[in-house]
Amino acid sequence: MRPELCIYEHLSAGKVREIYELDHDTLLMVVTDRISAYDFVLETEIPDKGRVLTAMSSYFFDEIEFPNHLVGELDDERIPASVLGRAMVCKKLDMLPFECVARGYLTGSGLKEYQESGTVCGIELPEGLTEASKLPEPIFTPATKAEIGDHDENVSFDKVVDALGEDRANEMREATLRIYSKAAALTEERGVILADTKLEFGLDEEGNLVLADEVLTPDSSRYWPADSYTEGKVQPSFDKQYVRNWLTGPKSGWDPKEGTPPPPLPGSVVEATRSRYVEAYEKISGLRFSDWIGSCV
Ligand SMILES: Nc1ncnc2c1ncn2[C@@H]1O[C@H](COP(=O)(O)OP(=O)(O)OP(=O)(O)O)[C@@H](O)[C@H]1O
Ligand SMILES: [Mg+2]
Repeated sequence: MRPELCIYEHLSAGKVREIYELDHDTLLMVVTDRISAYDFVLETEIPDKGRVLTAMSSYFFDEIEFPNHLVGELDDERIPASVLGRAMVCKKLDMLPFECVARGYLTGSGLKEYQESGTVCGIELPEGLTEASKLPEPIFTPATKAEIGDHDENVSFDKVVDALGEDRANEMREATLRIYSKAAALTEERGVILADTKLEFGLDEEGNLVLADEVLTPDSSRYWPADSYTEGKVQPSFDKQYVRNWLTGPKSGWDPKEGTPPPPLPGSVVEATRSRYVEAYEKISGLRFSDWIGSCV
């Protein structure tokens, strides 16, 4: 018999994930079907999103071959039946207080800073770049984790050096850029641009740098379909575009600027979004989602 989820101590709830403690050294990270848009967690869930994101993380943890926090198998006997396929058993680490972002393309907060100062996290970039421009080479743009409800704050590499020392800061930058480049090359072969991604690292008892959290999921990364890529415009998001279009379209009656929570999503938008998540996983990994479900239920 598998245990019930409620026997574990609930440590924290993020926008999308729930963390439980299995024992002093081990966590259970559970991915829910919640979805966020325009900085709101929507009241409507997307069925299977948690399993798709977990499958995607699992695929990339395998592919990128960097020491990571996974312990045990995906059907570890400590995982309750109710969350099989969307939960991972992880080694509890001493987390480093930076979000390690790698960018190959300019958009979002990177573009905003570039337009104000010509730099991103203090890195000077050539003139004339615009929305979605490909950068001459991928850059490391760390951020500090914000309190709930706030945006993460981009910081310079020197801030990471001040906090962690030069050796550790260099190690994080190199690891982040190496992982990004490897993943971007993989997705490019499959017709998907990995515009940017956010990684988190922690230290194990021996002080080794270990890749933690989720990796290369649509929630932590920007994926763009390569065939419709056009420099100079905001690219459609692979996964959330139906949700965003509907929320800002005439039928929702909602305005992101008003600060009120968005309305529930209609069934057609939920179904289309679910299909997009599954399609993104299958296209990027080359694996079948039905096999993922089969392997862990
Ligand atoms: N192996 C690990 N050991 C300890 N803490 C970890 C490990 N992996 C990830 N974490 C931490 O667990 C938390 C995951 O929480 P989660 O991402 O759900 O919420 P959040 O980061 O607080 O908010 P958001 O919803 O904005 O991402 C993060 O604080 C992350 O740094
Ligand atoms: Mg997080």
